[in-house]
Amino acid sequence: MSLIPESVRIVEVGARDGLQNESAPFDSAFREELIRKLLCCGFQNIEMGAFVSPHWVPKMADTGPILQHFDTADKSKFSVLVPNLQGLEVAIQHGVKEIAVFAAASEMFSQKNINCSIKESIQRFKLVCNEAIQNGIRVRGYISCVLGCPYQGSVNPIIVADIAERLLHLGCYEVSLGDTIGVGTANRAAELIQVVTRHNPVRHFAVHYHDTYGQALANIYAALQQGIATIDSAVSGLGGCPYAPGAAGNVATEDVLYMLDGMNIEHNINSKAVTETAHFVLNKLGKSPISRVSAATRNL
Ligand code: HMG
Ligand code: MG
Repeated sequence: MSLIPESVRIVEVGARDGLQNESAPFDSAFREELIRKLLCCGFQNIEMGAFVSPHWVPKMADTGPILQHFDTADKSKFSVLVPNLQGLEVAIQHGVKEIAVFAAASEMFSQKNINCSIKESIQRFKLVCNEAIQNGIRVRGYISCVLGCPYQGSVNPIIVADIAERLLHLGCYEVSLGDTIGVGTANRAAELIQVVTRHNPVRHFAVHYHDTYGQALANIYAALQQGIATIDSAVSGLGGCPYAPGAAGNVATEDVLYMLDGMNIEHNINSKAVTETAHFVLNKLGKSPISRVSAATRNL
C-alpha cells in the first residue's frame, strides 16, 4: 500500500533559512516585500525570521521591525525561530503565534549553533515550550544534522529519534528533520523516517532538505513514500547555514511544487506565482538561477 499523501503542506523558509546566510546585500524592505509576495502565493506557513542573537546571525536582526508591518491575519501564517526565553519574550511582544525551537543531532553542531550541549538545549526548550504554550503560541521543533554533521560526520538515527521524542514530549506539535548540510540520499532519508516513526506517528514529522549534492528532491520523494506530508523549502533555493560551512541552499520551493504538480499531490499554492517570486529574488540579489525551475523559466 502506498503511503504517498494526497495533499502536502509546504513550510516556506526562504525569508529565514534562505536569507540568514545570504552573501548578496539586501535590506529590510526586500525581506518584507518577499514575505508579502509569499503571502500572495498562498502559503499558510511562512518562517519569516528569527529572534536570535544579532551578533550570531545579523541578517535576522530586523525581524521585529518587519513583523510590525503585518496584521494579525498575516501573523497567523508566520513562524519565527527562537533559541531561548529571551527570544520568546520578544516574539510574544510582537504577537507571534508560532515559534520554532532548534536542536541538533550532533553535539559539535549544537555547540557551534546555539552555544550549548544537546542536553542543555532540551532544558532551555522545556522552559521556552512551557511559556509559549501558556501564551497560546504553537511550537515547532527542528533537529539539525539528522543525516550528517559538518564537524562529526555520521549521525545515528536512534539519536535523532530520541531527540524527536523529547521535543514532542515538550509540546512541539511537529518535528522537522533537517539535513542541514544536504548529504543525505534517498535510502538513508527513508530509513531515518522509519526509525523516528517507530514511536511517534508520521503526521508529527516534516522534512527539511538542503540540496548540496542535488539529492533533495529524491529525498523528498522517498519521504513522501514513507507518508511524510509536510515539506520545508525555500523559494529560489536560497539558503545555507552560518554554522554549516559549504552547505548549499534549501530545496527550492518551485522545484518541489513542480514535482508535486506532476504527481497530482495537492498543495494549495500558486506554483506560477512562486516561480515569479523566485525570479524576483534572483533579480534583486543579482544571482543566476539556482533552482531547475527558475533556470528553465528564465527567458519565458
Ligand atoms: P550565547 O552567546 O551563549 O547567549 O548565545 P547568552 O545568553 O550568553 O547572551 C549573549 C548575548 O546574546 C547577550 O547580549 C544577550 O542579550 C544576547 P550582550 O549582553 O552580549 O549584548 N542574546 C540574544 N539577543 C537576541 N535574541 C536572543 C538572544 N539570546 C541572547 N534570543 C544563542 C546563545 C542561542 C543566543 C546564540 O547562539 C544564537 O543566537 N544562536 C542562533 C544561531 C542561529 O540562528 N543559527 C541558524 C539557525 S539554525 C539552522 O539554520 C538550521 C535549521 O534550518 C534546520 C536545518 O537546516 O537543519 C533550523
Ligand atoms: Mg535549514
